[in-house]
Amino acid sequence: MIKIFRLSNLSQIDDYFVKNGFCIIRGLYNSKQVKDLEKLIKNIDKKYHKHKNTYDNQIFSIVSHKIFEKTDLFDKIYKNQNLIKALKVFFGTDIIQINFSRFQINRKNNKLNLNKDDTKFQQFKGIHNDHWTGSSEYTIHYWMPFSGIDKNNGLTVYPGSHLNGSFPVVNREIDKKIKFKYKELNLNSLRNGDVVLFHSLLLHKTSGKSQKTRMAALSRFACQNYRLTKQELDLGFKSISVGPMRRIIRTIGNDMLTPFRTYGSVSGIDRVIYEVYQDSKLDKKIEDLYNKLKK
Ligand SMILES: [Fe+2]
Repeated sequence: MIKIFRLSNLSQIDDYFVKNGFCIIRGLYNSKQVKDLEKLIKNIDKKYHKHKNTYDNQIFSIVSHKIFEKTDLFDKIYKNQNLIKALKVFFGTDIIQINFSRFQINRKNNKLNLNKDDTKFQQFKGIHNDHWTGSSEYTIHYWMPFSGIDKNNGLTVYPGSHLNGSFPVVNREIDKKIKFKYKELNLNSLRNGDVVLFHSLLLHKTSGKSQKTRMAALSRFACQNYRLTKQELDLGFKSISVGPMRRIIRTIGNDMLTPFRTYGSVSGIDRVIYEVYQDSKLDKKIEDLYNKLKK
């Protein structure tokens, strides 16, 4: 039932996703990228340790993510060419990333003793879908464990549950009046660095706890050509990939198609926004100078 896809063979990943509401892709990141992320957050976690009685685990996950956002690693993870290639299967060439990606840190505890931080601050979640909290039905959720994943502390999904629309919710839980007919599937073969993509209507939960602290990166990807919710618009987004039809408009220069704006000279796209129209790749010379000057 659990099929793990690789970038070299994504055939039928779309059919699998339509049927099950999720898919797992292995090998989008190299082991150094995953290890670097793990090292970065574990180092911040060490510093956090002496403050943990003052600041809860969610504050730690927000702060550590803010630090991550300011490193070059952020682009290596989210403007990753392998990731963009995989997302194109679902969205075509026009892909956006909704802002406010985050970490979810499921602290170790071999018994399922949830403390108030786990539930109140959403680092450990019961059955839910993310449509309940503002994701559009065209948004794909990205979940990538990068430290401590094992068979007990990861993600459990309910395959096919997205195909009946949004499950009714009462006070943040599934409505107990409705018989729950979905079978759970613990994604218990995940490794650090695997990427789970799932539909916003798919019911899912945190699998449980183990003797390892599990850290995961969460993000949301969508397409400008599909509906976005007001909440998603409030959060804002970044263009990750822009296809040829939108590139033509950018080259003309404006949506009004002002005639002959560059007639007789060269039409092109300004270097400052080059990356938007080149699958998030920097202009080579800009990248070279950036690498030279940042040291
Ligand atoms: Fe969720």
